[in-house]
Amino acid sequence: MDIKARMQELTNELLRYQEAYYVEGKSLVSDLEYDGLFDELSKLEKEHPEYASSSSPTQRVGSDLTSDFPEVKHTIPVLSLDKAYSVEEVLSFMGKCEEKGKEKLSFVEEEKIDGISMVLYYEDGILVRGVTRGNGSVGNDVTANIKTINQIPLRLKEKVNLVVRGEVYLAKADFLKFKDLDGAANPRNLAAGSVRRQKSSETAQIPLQIFIYEGFWEDESKTPQDHISILAKLKELGFRINPHLALFSSSKEKSENMLKTAGLEGKAYSFDSLGSYIKDVTQKRQDLEYEIDGMVTKINELDVRKELGYTQHHPRWAIAYKFESPQAETIINGITMQVGRTGRITPVAELNPVALGGSTVKRATLHNQEYIDELEIAIGDKVSVVKRGDVIPAVEEVLEKNEEGNTTFKIPHICPCCNTPLEEKGAHLFCPNPECPDQVLGRIAFFASRECMDMESFGPKSVEVLIKHGFIKDIPDLYTFNYDKILDENIKGLGEKTVNQFKVAVKESKKKPFRVVLTSLGLPEVGKKGAEILIKGGFDSIDKLIQASLNKDIEAFTKIPQIGEQTATLIINALNDKVLLERIEKLKSAGLQFEENHEENSLEQIFAGQVWCVTGSFEHYNPRSLALAEIEKRGGRTTSSVTSKTTHLLLGKGGGSKRATAESLGVKLVDEGEFLKMIGEGEVKTESAPEDGQLSLF
Ligand code: IVH
Repeated sequence: MDIKARMQELTNELLRYQEAYYVEGKSLVSDLEYDGLFDELSKLEKEHPEYASSSSPTQRVGSDLTSDFPEVKHTIPVLSLDKAYSVEEVLSFMGKCEEKGKEKLSFVEEEKIDGISMVLYYEDGILVRGVTRGNGSVGNDVTANIKTINQIPLRLKEKVNLVVRGEVYLAKADFLKFKDLDGAANPRNLAAGSVRRQKSSETAQIPLQIFIYEGFWEDESKTPQDHISILAKLKELGFRINPHLALFSSSKEKSENMLKTAGLEGKAYSFDSLGSYIKDVTQKRQDLEYEIDGMVTKINELDVRKELGYTQHHPRWAIAYKFESPQAETIINGITMQVGRTGRITPVAELNPVALGGSTVKRATLHNQEYIDELEIAIGDKVSVVKRGDVIPAVEEVLEKNEEGNTTFKIPHICPCCNTPLEEKGAHLFCPNPECPDQVLGRIAFFASRECMDMESFGPKSVEVLIKHGFIKDIPDLYTFNYDKILDENIKGLGEKTVNQFKVAVKESKKKPFRVVLTSLGLPEVGKKGAEILIKGGFDSIDKLIQASLNKDIEAFTKIPQIGEQTATLIINALNDKVLLERIEKLKSAGLQFEENHEENSLEQIFAGQVWCVTGSFEHYNPRSLALAEIEKRGGRTTSSVTSKTTHLLLGKGGGSKRATAESLGVKLVDEGEFLKMIGEGEVKTESAPEDGQLSLF
């Protein structure tokens, strides 16, 4: 057989295997066999690039060439959807459509996938272009990137000219695996960032998926008569269709028959079940493997769709029911930049204050440049702002463009805090200057925060003042600074009491176990859980971690089951940074714990993040400070009075006024018996009380 024919044969075979595996979930060959064929094709393509096909399965691995996504004009209007915020609105939409002829009408109910809208162009059955929605008439060409999505067919079963629309998304589980690589806030943002990576080899690292939900044939006579038949046909051509679909018509039987005739799987109902179906899916949406942000109701019959037509913005034959998340409309007055502790720049929209989910919102995150580009956000635009799952509010959509002619905002490539030129890493810009005052502030505030070293007196405001007066420049300065100097300068708000609190916090922090110190350093992927995994996995001292990192010993990390290659690389790179190594050395000299004391710290940190107050007298804890020590050993903080921050009050005999305050503040009351149970009775030891002064100052 000649080489060209062999390459074609390999291509056909591999594409068939890929489709079976990624779209239908079936494995037709062993991994070994597949890899053998793949390698053979890659090798032949290198030797004979003249025969290499643009739809070769080898394109899936992506390339290191950079692309700046040229703008291309869509050949179909890529419209959005009209929105409904209640099931009643959907039913009223349905009622209006029914006026067009109830008997012949049916509705398809689909999940509204929370991902990135994608338009795929096929010519003679070959994928020629993948384009983002953009503004609906012009989008960005991201072909090389979307070719890495295994579920997108590079070649169809028929040589048709066809445009399809679909949603590229990332499964929730995959988001959890990859989010730290990029710092994305949710699966949608990570998917958006990945689609817009400059190197397709980077897109290929993220297991993006796609559901196709609309198809437009160039030759209209080839277009099936209704939506369910279109979906069935798209499936037959090799596209991945969301099986969670329901058809509603005048009767359940009719719907069943229609689905059967179309050859499509789906649920069948009569019209009157539509409301309860939407409510049911809404309730169960948490169980899905991916995020959906609503439900789409579409008229099934294409002739009725045609009759109803389109507005400039959306088709009149469909409506999206958006799940309720608190939402508000306001104007963007300006866009500022925030510099995080890692140097990451986050653009923030400064808003006309607006009430949202029980608070007044003045600022909302714009995530990064990609997000701004995708939504085409400009200063002066009227936008909708949402709070999803109680997180920081985000600008979600531009509702009206500004009248001043402001164009889509571009983040300046210079640090707003220290003027250093910014560097691009993945989807984000970073300030590379470790001495950038905003970074320093973020780093110290993180180190001192309740979840880390728990040095309450060093809140962000105090740290800012200390930095501003030149007292501290980095974390180790917290341990070397002579706090009495503050008093010489007569600074408002920094009196003797605060200075004493600083000193106590510093002294107390030296007792924090290695696992806490490790978390507080802010290494990538090393949060509380990450630190525990590393320590349990044998890295029970900073020296061991540094040694393995300097040796670039990835395996030393990946042999711990929960640690993958990417995490290992991130940690290794971080611990090869001179500035960090110097910081660690200084903290070591200051007396922080950089080795896990297995005996002392084997206790489960059951009180981490909690604030306890103790009152009254106890049978097992005399003096009372013994009880305080038990709480602290298990990660809890103790205070001498009950405040709004107190989470628990340990109540001994005769604890009067504190009890009343605690009750009025809703603080949990715990008696001695319950406390003993919480910590396991066997744990009670007679131990000398810590020096008085250490505790009374809290
Ligand atoms: S139909 C003309 N169906 O939602 C057809 N869109 O808010 C319009 N989306 O831009 C789109 N799941 O990116 C349709 N099952 C679905 C969808 C869906 C997600 C997205 C799509 C669209 C946006 C509108």
